[in-house]
Amino acid sequence: ETIPLEMHKVRIVQKLALPPIEHRLEVMTKAGNNTFLLPNEEVFLDMLTDSGVNAMSDRQLAAMMVADDAYAGSATYTRLETKLRDIFGMDYFLPAHQGRACEHILAKVLVTPGSVVPMNYHFTTTKAHITLQGGVVEELVSDAGLEVVSALPFKGDMDIAKLEATIARHGAGKIAFVRVESGTNLIGGQPVSLKNLAEVSAVCRRHGIVLVLDASLLADNLHFNKTREASCKDLTIREITRRIADLCDIVYFSARKLGCARGGGICIRDKDMYLRMRGLVPLFEGFLTYGGMSVREIEAITVGLEETMDEDMIDQGPQFIAYMVGELERRGVPVITPAGGLGCHVDAKRFVDHIPQEQYPAGALASALYIAGGIRGMERGTLSEQREPDGREVFSNMELVRLAMPRRVFTLSQVKYAIDRLSWLHENRRLVGGLTFVEEPEVLRFFYGLLKPV
Ligand code: F0G
Repeated sequence: ETIPLEMHKVRIVQKLALPPIEHRLEVMTKAGNNTFLLPNEEVFLDMLTDSGVNAMSDRQLAAMMVADDAYAGSATYTRLETKLRDIFGMDYFLPAHQGRACEHILAKVLVTPGSVVPMNYHFTTTKAHITLQGGVVEELVSDAGLEVVSALPFKGDMDIAKLEATIARHGAGKIAFVRVESGTNLIGGQPVSLKNLAEVSAVCRRHGIVLVLDASLLADNLHFNKTREASCKDLTIREITRRIADLCDIVYFSARKLGCARGGGICIRDKDMYLRMRGLVPLFEGFLTYGGMSVREIEAITVGLEETMDEDMIDQGPQFIAYMVGELERRGVPVITPAGGLGCHVDAKRFVDHIPQEQYPAGALASALYIAGGIRGMERGTLSEQREPDGREVFSNMELVRLAMPRRVFTLSQVKYAIDRLSWLHENRRLVGGLTFVEEPEVLRFFYGLLKPV
């Protein structure tokens, strides 16, 4: 058994409460069996996401105190720009208030009605913004990426033959851009290899297609490049990052994974493309030298980016996740393997195999886990899909309950508690029943939808 070692010490803490089970049942019922609607005070372990809830370092907090608060021309902003140029080697940068705001700008400028955006796998907000502009998403992840149980190290890789076929079918002119999500969010945080990205990049360059990297989950991906990919073994994290960026035309990211509450941005190589996007920033985000972020947090993001180049720091999430996945596997609880980034992904299709997909097995399991243990996970299955324009349900490839692992936030005993509650729930899985909508919003329904037991 490999015990993950924390390469930091805890110096600020926040009190938690564990409400009794009867109360949790009441709270969950009131929340419409939707973990997004739980008041956080009623949650013991908040494993909903790693977005905006990762721990900050002493250096990040300290940096916030020396921020240069200015509407225009802030020195803090210049430091961020310089850091990004240093890390990604791209000349231009546009700030945005978070990742989906970058997606909004990219889609508005690059996507036209009928254009196609091939990608390894979609993310909820990405797809929503592309379809809003009349574009179509095509998912080209390798077949292995959709296998729940696997030993393959890079299940997020794109299938190059499928990419070639998609370009041939539509013609390069119809492709708005190709998007690679480093660390596929919806299929278990599975990484993309540097080798595969190089192949995707070669195809894009041959056809004159823009290659966009969604780097929101890049930190975890870098850990896997370093530890699972032979060609990266002797490279520093900074060198791997630069090789990745060198293959792309645009790198965008959510800075909410860096411990901040807000932030994101788009790094761009081409000046014309930069100019086409620039006009949207003051319109939707804020002036060009803050883009909807708080200046203090920009300072923390800059430090966070530098800390991401530190192996000790980026190893934390994946090591805790690997521990949790390994222990659950040993207890026979179905999880996505190999362990990926972002969190531990429980396979609801196998866990509650008595619940049909139209009764949202992953949503039902996420609700049950809160009741059983005060643990808040996130449904990443059919509930997170959007219906076809004609109202037909889109059944997701996987039915997952994601137990995100906010970095440097939980102790190993808390993770062990989560393992224990999940095993108990697995032994008593027949207690869990399916769900049906009481109130179903049209867009991003998983955020606000209310459900009840079937
Ligand atoms: N891309 C990826 C791969 C993401 O994981 C996220 C956010 C975004 C884009 C959007 O960024 O939230 O700053 O607007 N993922 C969070 C999650 C919300 O919990 O999975 P955002």
